[in-house]
Amino acid sequence: MRSLTRLDTGWTFHTAFSPELITAIAPGTAVRLPHNAVDLEMTYLDERCYQQEFGYQRILAWQPEYAGREISLEFDAAMANAVVWVNGRQVAAHKDGYTPFSARLTGLLNEGDNLVTVKIDGSENPEIPPFGGQIDYLTYAGIYRDVWLKLTDAVSIANLKVETSSELSDAKGVRVTGFMANPTQVAFTGNALVELCTVDGKVLHYQTTAVSGTSFSVVFDKLAGLKLWALDAPQLYLMRVSTTTSAGTDQLSTRFGFRTAAFTAEGFFLNGQPLKIRGLNRHQSYPYVGYAMGRRAQQKDADILKHELKCNLARTSHYPQSTYFLDRCDEIGLLVLEEIPGWQHIGGQAWQDESVENVRRMIERDWNHPAIVSWGVRINESADNHAFYSRTNAMARELDGSRAIGGIRCIDNSELLEDVYTMNDFFNGAGPEWLAGREPVPLRAPRAVTGLDHEVPYLVTEHTGHMYPTKRFDAEHRQAEHVTRHLQVLNTAYGNPVISGAIGWCMFDYNTHKDFGAGDRICHHGVMDIFREPKFAAHAYASQCSPDEQVVLEPVTYWARGEKDRCDVLPIIVLTNCDYVELKVGDFAPKRAEPDRARYPHLPHAPVIFDSRQVNMNDLGAWGMLWRDAIFTGYIDGKAVASVAVSGNPLPTTLQLQVDDTVLRSGEKDSTRVIVRALDQAGRPLPFLDDIVTVDVSGAAQLLGPRMLPIKGGVTGFWVETTGAVGDIALSVSTTRLGTQRLSLRAE
Ligand code: GAL
Repeated sequence: MRSLTRLDTGWTFHTAFSPELITAIAPGTAVRLPHNAVDLEMTYLDERCYQQEFGYQRILAWQPEYAGREISLEFDAAMANAVVWVNGRQVAAHKDGYTPFSARLTGLLNEGDNLVTVKIDGSENPEIPPFGGQIDYLTYAGIYRDVWLKLTDAVSIANLKVETSSELSDAKGVRVTGFMANPTQVAFTGNALVELCTVDGKVLHYQTTAVSGTSFSVVFDKLAGLKLWALDAPQLYLMRVSTTTSAGTDQLSTRFGFRTAAFTAEGFFLNGQPLKIRGLNRHQSYPYVGYAMGRRAQQKDADILKHELKCNLARTSHYPQSTYFLDRCDEIGLLVLEEIPGWQHIGGQAWQDESVENVRRMIERDWNHPAIVSWGVRINESADNHAFYSRTNAMARELDGSRAIGGIRCIDNSELLEDVYTMNDFFNGAGPEWLAGREPVPLRAPRAVTGLDHEVPYLVTEHTGHMYPTKRFDAEHRQAEHVTRHLQVLNTAYGNPVISGAIGWCMFDYNTHKDFGAGDRICHHGVMDIFREPKFAAHAYASQCSPDEQVVLEPVTYWARGEKDRCDVLPIIVLTNCDYVELKVGDFAPKRAEPDRARYPHLPHAPVIFDSRQVNMNDLGAWGMLWRDAIFTGYIDGKAVASVAVSGNPLPTTLQLQVDDTVLRSGEKDSTRVIVRALDQAGRPLPFLDDIVTVDVSGAAQLLGPRMLPIKGGVTGFWVETTGAVGDIALSVSTTRLGTQRLSLRAE
């Protein structure tokens, strides 16, 4: 039987690698995994600081239970070009920074202390995807995912593949393939027990089969009473496989679900029903610590996409992301488009060979996730390359016949080897109509892009992003335009049945190279900032959900007399799923506005726009007159269901301290996000307040990043991480003008 132990403690980190580390333990810094080799500043950082070799060492003390077992270290990922030695012998080399790899230690361990040494190289080695050109994101060095010690018998289960069929009927089918690991090539015979279980392990159906070679399969058919995996009810099942052979026993389980996902020339269908994809792109990065965030933070991003942004799909731009993120997508019903590492540049033969291997590793790791509906098998936005992409497509088709293949491109008329024409359409704001001041064309018609004489499955995989970078603390008119551009694209996607949907660029702001972004090493392209705090544009997405799920009412305004040009307060866009909205200013009679279906005929929930059609500027209090409080009220079926008050006299009133989780896990590097908001009397963030937050964290957690943080756009944020100790965590934030707030958390 296998055992799997997380090896997150006991590592020594070396800021420079030297060959002596291969054979002798040397003094360094004690670290836990996941680990970021060089913590960064949040702005104006020098991204070259991690582009070098680093070393990790760990003593693996012999345990009696190692005797006679297969033993390996399983790395979930390391950035990048990792080489692993044990007791001076090289046992693994893995170039890719995003996929797992294994280092076999069997037969190389002494009955005493054993030295494990890992070299990683953060330099942008042009031999390794995504490197070789410029890339618009950072690839932070480090062993930034978990490492496991795995013990098995001589023969074990290497991987499981679960393929469903007849999903929409009440006679569902499942084929389970088990792939055996047999490193010493022993002859063996035995059996596998294959159990289809509820997710908590209750057996619903089972079969047994003989096992002797490299793989085995069983097929279940006519399964009645099983539920579909759907976005609003993401039913998961567990496939548990136990092998008993002459060369040992093993057990491995995987979760899976029953669903169909089809991209057609008439749009996307989930479980046979049309579904317009409304998604956002996600990088896996965080301020200061880069990629090195564990389970909870990864899961949280999926929750934010689903529950706060009300998206139905995430694209893992531009690489395979943490399985904690993907597992969470399975659990909450969030679709995923996953893709191989790369950004515009295609390297030489060895580079391409590695990229084809990345397709294999990505699919073999993730083929059982029901959330994943498509594999991206082109280098994001690269040129056509028939020979190379024939190989990546062939690899994907061979490994997984069930999912649509995409390949993200930005050039028109590019060759379609895939099932879906997945296009980054950044036309909004670039087209001649826009420049000439005419009504814009937010997305082009698919055939104008594909150059084909017929429609094909078509999905917009990026839009808006760098065409309109917007900081969360930018001026109101810019925020409103940012909102408008996202709405226009969504409206166009909803209005064209050929377009399966649109995935915006992007979920949140991210650190990047000097060649991109606002010079501060941040691409302010998110609908949220780097702390995942929403910009107004976030509500353009959220407001598309049904009010039965959540009533959304978000006026895109700082409500100030003189913030916009000419001191115009109007127009004010209200992002909402209400039937209509009333705006009441001071004692004036309320003004009512309906959703602007003329401008946004296709959106599930067009925004309400207050402009001179409904409101006379003099009724607001013209320039030079008294500026008043106001209240926006949203109505559904004639009833007031939500309201937002705005102050005509905003003053710093409340320091809001909000933490995502109050109970953390001490047994792993567990982190939670803290948001600090400076609010006025009405509870709105003060967009232009100058103040500093001083953070204190004591007890069983530590602060990630600096202690003093500037409030920007009324908000700042940080993460705290458990230290390994069990106990209370005291958190306090202090400002000059708003005093101190405290919270207690606990690490258990
Ligand atoms: C795309 C690219 C993304 C990001 C985006 C910015 O071209 O695929 O990674 O750079 O532009 O809008």
